[in-house]
Amino acid sequence: MSERKIIAVVGATGAQGGGLVRAICADPSGAFQARAITRNVNSEKARALAALGAEVVAADVDDAGSIGRAFEGAYGAFCVTFFWDHFSPEKEHAQAGHMAQAARAAGVRHVIWSTLEDTRKLVPLSDNRMPTLMGKYKVPHFDSKGESDHLFADAGLPVTYLLTAFYWDNFIYFGMGPKKGADGKYAISLPMGDRKLPGIAAEDIGRCAFGVFQRPELIGKRVGIAGEHLTGAEMAAEFSKALGIEVAYHEVSPDAYRAFGFPGAEDLGNMFQYKRDFEKEFRAVRSVEESRKLNPKLHSFAQWLAENKASLAL
Ligand SMILES: NC(=O)c1ccc[n+]([C@@H]2O[C@H](COP(=O)([O-])OP(=O)(O)OC[C@H]3O[C@@H](n4cnc5c(N)ncnc54)[C@H](OP(=O)(O)O)[C@@H]3O)[C@@H](O)[C@H]2O)c1
Repeated sequence: MSERKIIAVVGATGAQGGGLVRAICADPSGAFQARAITRNVNSEKARALAALGAEVVAADVDDAGSIGRAFEGAYGAFCVTFFWDHFSPEKEHAQAGHMAQAARAAGVRHVIWSTLEDTRKLVPLSDNRMPTLMGKYKVPHFDSKGESDHLFADAGLPVTYLLTAFYWDNFIYFGMGPKKGADGKYAISLPMGDRKLPGIAAEDIGRCAFGVFQRPELIGKRVGIAGEHLTGAEMAAEFSKALGIEVAYHEVSPDAYRAFGFPGAEDLGNMFQYKRDFEKEFRAVRSVEESRKLNPKLHSFAQWLAENKASLAL
């Protein structure tokens, strides 16, 4: 039997990496071996991945040496950063650098960098349609990822840039789900106007990433993914159908969204405004059809809702 190709997965106990580890472990060909990277190999989530057949190793992306060791002997490396754990673009950039250097030192043959657009290419800091945040960003958690792309290119790595999309799981875990208004009616509030938002079931990101690892011809390419592109009104209609209650779409302005006051509200307000104002560009690089080729199990929003509606806090 030929040796399995090891894919080292950063963020393995999380949304993106977890989906990838589960996809590798479920692959009947057995051509790949998942190496799940976590800071705590004894956590319940880490043990669950080991039970599926993943090798579980300890490393921290803040510690370049530990990531270097975790990538040794790997064929592939899935690299992702965790903006919402620290809200620091600079830290994200440093973590991306650690992973790029580790992949280079280990001679990894296919790297996936989970990235997003540097929005400043379309909205320069001088563009006052949205405020500049943290002194030099428009959408900090996008810009720092996009700005880090060059770290992988400069290291001469065989990299695929995976442009992810809005997780529908945010409706469960990010407090964005339907909320009851003063009038007793449920609504979702987004500053998207009548524009379509590319979204995806978080679990499908890892499955698409596995599809990328199975296609070395995607090395050097930018690959955008989404499960469906929907307007706020279309998502509200799907919520209504799935939940059996009326859910409306409440369109708010980006200014109102930025003023919601929760941590990251300004960043997300700018993000939605970017997706609204540059709908054409943002959607063009996230083909649902191509995503389904990478991952035939790709969920539509209705399918995701059918599986997850019980977890919505109503
Ligand atoms: N929410 C969205 O709609 C959306 C859309 C597109 C992109 N994103 C991006 O997705 C990224 C987060 O990915 P995710 O959602 O998969 O993350 P996640 O579900 O929050 O999981 C992160 C996992 O990574 C591990 N981790 C955290 N800090 C680490 C460190 N210093 N070293 C090693 N491992 C660490 C943690 O595992 P252990 O505790 O086991 O170590 C955790 O389980 C963010 O940068 C965000 O901007 C989000």
